[in-house]
Amino acid sequence: MAKKIEKVEDLPGVGETAAKKLAEAGYKTLEQIAVASGSELQEVAGLGEGTADKAIKAARDALDMGYETADVLAEKRKLVGRLTTGSKELDNLIGGGIETQSITEVYGKMASGKSQWCFQTAVTVQLPKEQGGLEGGCLYVDSENSFRPERVIQVAKKFGLDTDAALKNIYVARAYNAEHQMILVDKAADMIKEKNIKLLIVDSLTAQFRSEFVGRGTLAERQQKLNKHMRSLQKTAEMYNVAVLVTNQVMSRPDILFGDPTEPVGGNVVGHASKTRLYLRKSKEDKRVAKLVDSPSLPDGEALYRITENGIEDVEE
Ligand SMILES: Nc1ncnc2c1ncn2[C@@H]1O[C@H](COP(=O)(O)OP(=O)(O)O)[C@@H](O)[C@H]1O
Ligand SMILES: [Mg+2]
Repeated sequence: MAKKIEKVEDLPGVGETAAKKLAEAGYKTLEQIAVASGSELQEVAGLGEGTADKAIKAARDALDMGYETADVLAEKRKLVGRLTTGSKELDNLIGGGIETQSITEVYGKMASGKSQWCFQTAVTVQLPKEQGGLEGGCLYVDSENSFRPERVIQVAKKFGLDTDAALKNIYVARAYNAEHQMILVDKAADMIKEKNIKLLIVDSLTAQFRSEFVGRGTLAERQQKLNKHMRSLQKTAEMYNVAVLVTNQVMSRPDILFGDPTEPVGGNVVGHASKTRLYLRKSKEDKRVAKLVDSPSLPDGEALYRITENGIEDVEE
């Protein structure tokens, strides 16, 4: 039988020297390795690509997250609710709307419409079930100071809701730094029960983390914190059967020479936690494209929609 893996140097392909290099860069525990990406480990410890991936997998296996039987999972899945985006094209792309019990991520460049998705769903979540809503309120964590009640009012009007009532069902908190943002999510539980919350929004997921952790030496710590944050979001989604919508910034990968070098911030930590990922971009006039990326249960594809004064709409209404 293989040796039990308890520390970083026990990982396959990681000797004492590599373990020391990893520790110096902040990767001291199996947890930190488990949430790292292959390229991070290659960079800081000079591991080969295959070795890095093997070490990460071994660290994850060693930490074993536990089993649940499939019938229990199937029962849980039955309770999954779906929230309309306000566009049939978009809803179809993501299998009928934004799911409860998991994290949906929209990422894209500045002004690609990420915050518009938030204003939109903060309203549609309040709609009756027949209209694609979840008949609940919204918790809105705003880390970029971009919440705009006037946009919410416009969207609420389009759906024929009382605008005052619609605003009262959205609980907004400014997140002043990454730690504060994490606390706001950790404390969401009470509010969710008390106020019948069905949607938790974090706009933006990564902005505070990005501005606080700059430079190479801080990457491991940032990823570890971000991982904790994603777990907290995931737990909240599952435990309370709420939808979680997060927005994410993008960066350009210098090593991609062909194709689109744009990729979401946060690496594997965010990538693995977000079940539904959509890449948003501008098209002609008020038209926008959302591309579904790496869904575990849906085909890849794109949807065309518009962002108008009324919010998100189909191109043909
Ligand atoms: N009142 C409005 N009417 C029509 N389009 C709007 C309105 N407000 C914002 N938009 C569109 O949304 C874009 C900004 O999107 P936003 O969600 O703030 O981007 P992001 O959060 O991705 O940076 C604007 O460039 C504009 O195209
Ligand atoms: Mg925004």
